[in-house]
Amino acid sequence: MGLRSESFYREPGMWGFIHRSFTKAMGYDDHDLGKPLIGICNTYSELNKCHVHFRELAAAVKRGVWEAGGLPLEFPTVSLGEPFVQPTTMLYRNLQAIDTEEMLRAHPLDGVVLLGGCDKTIPAQLMAAASVDIPALQVSGGPMLDGHSGAQVLGACTDCYRFTEAHAAGELDASRLAAAEDDICRSAGHCMVMGTASTMAVLAEALGMMLPGTAAIPAVDSRRLRACAASGRRIVGMVQEDLRPSCILTEDAFENAIRVLMALGGSTNAVIHLIAIAGRLGIPLPLQLFDTLSRSTPWIANLRPSGVHQMEAFYYAGGSEALVGTLLPLLHGGAGTCTGRTLAENYAGARVRMDGVIAPLERPLAAEGGIAILKGNLCPQGAVIKQTAASPTLLCHRGRARVLAAPDACPEDVVPGDILVLAGWGPVGGPGMPEVGQVRMPPALVRRGVRDMVRISDARLSGTSYGTLVAHVAPEAAVGGPLGLVREGDEILLDVGARRLELLVGERELARRAAGSTGPRPVAGRGYVGLYRRHVLQADQGCDFDFLLPEAAEGRPGPPSRQAREDGA
Ligand code: FES
Repeated sequence: MGLRSESFYREPGMWGFIHRSFTKAMGYDDHDLGKPLIGICNTYSELNKCHVHFRELAAAVKRGVWEAGGLPLEFPTVSLGEPFVQPTTMLYRNLQAIDTEEMLRAHPLDGVVLLGGCDKTIPAQLMAAASVDIPALQVSGGPMLDGHSGAQVLGACTDCYRFTEAHAAGELDASRLAAAEDDICRSAGHCMVMGTASTMAVLAEALGMMLPGTAAIPAVDSRRLRACAASGRRIVGMVQEDLRPSCILTEDAFENAIRVLMALGGSTNAVIHLIAIAGRLGIPLPLQLFDTLSRSTPWIANLRPSGVHQMEAFYYAGGSEALVGTLLPLLHGGAGTCTGRTLAENYAGARVRMDGVIAPLERPLAAEGGIAILKGNLCPQGAVIKQTAASPTLLCHRGRARVLAAPDACPEDVVPGDILVLAGWGPVGGPGMPEVGQVRMPPALVRRGVRDMVRISDARLSGTSYGTLVAHVAPEAAVGGPLGLVREGDEILLDVGARRLELLVGERELARRAAGSTGPRPVAGRGYVGLYRRHVLQADQGCDFDFLLPEAAEGRPGPPSRQAREDGA
């Protein structure tokens, strides 16, 4: 089979001696050293509440690896917990991806099980696995149980925004706010609405990199432990079959994942992450592809923040298995998966087990998918909007720009119909593209019953955000993008149906403003943040580092491009 561990342990002379004796020091013997060596990438951290149960999950994976005849060895990497990391986990997604990639390259692992969950962790791990291309299986930590406050079901962090906004507007007293704070997060696991973590778990499964039906199992449900053990058993089989990410992560797999994203009404962040993962394999995912697939994929998952239910109900209704099974007529059923079978074979028997959560294709919640891609002179390289979480009355809107100096610096005299513009918070400018695109609604307007306004930024959104929020405007203001040329009082047109985002200012005036601006700031700074700002790509290119794309690697050509394949090259 030519395993990496074989050459490591059978190396003649002193180094083989050292490799064997140092492994034996941990209690393993020659019998164990003959087994496939399986890494368990455990991102357990007490600085990441979403992963605090990962020791138990890793133990279950280990049990499965032993059962199937492998030798499991656990190792840590960077772990990113959304609320704990400042200024934003997105600044460090690439750091985790580099850490994971280099640990997989540096150690003699034959295969790896990747334990991730919180928003950036699964994307980082899949980026690494795609680059290293050893057999790899993703396991997610699963969502928290629903929060409950009396009869009310609570969801992080959609209700974090909702409750604090209502409190700021004087609609919710301090004691009810404190009660919600106590009641919302009641178990280990990631956020339990269809935010970025839930979305990326389901997409990892749709890509074929996670065992079918496992993405939505609640974090503390015993079935998750069983899924972990099954994953441990399966990775040994994948090593024996030499089933690598490059066999699974094909263009068809990414198209499947995009359709699933649209059907979920999933997180806008997934657009960036899918582009980055595909980019590691040299597979281009232009924003236009997302829009094309969105237009022909109905929204069927009635999940917050777009819909009404949460991950627990989603799982009881059949979860990822039922969702992918329902969508099969629209997917590339022949795509290969981690099971060694095709997607269609994996999901052929899937069925919806509860009404109201996953709609049938013939009676969808909306004819189009959750995310629309915008183009126009305000976003020449594109922007995103989650149309299913926006106010229908604002999807076509023309209004006066109100330019914010900072995310919490909303002008006092904002009126309903104004458009809030926040520039300078993109990948370079943020830095790290923080989730500040859901600019807080002005309390004075909330008190008057105004619940939503058009808000436009080059920042990102939390996957749990809701409202008419345009984000990921590219290129960002910090590298000279036109969002930085918007002035107070300019008119802006948003027309989601026509996919337009236009600054209604003449070209000559924009050229005058551009000539008068200081232009892109020179990017300096020491350490990782300096490296990040010098090398990060724009949102429409996945925010990966330019030097991590396959064309930057020596002697490792990527697969043929989509166009080359269509041309029969
Ligand atoms: Fe980890 Fe929300 S904080 S998924």
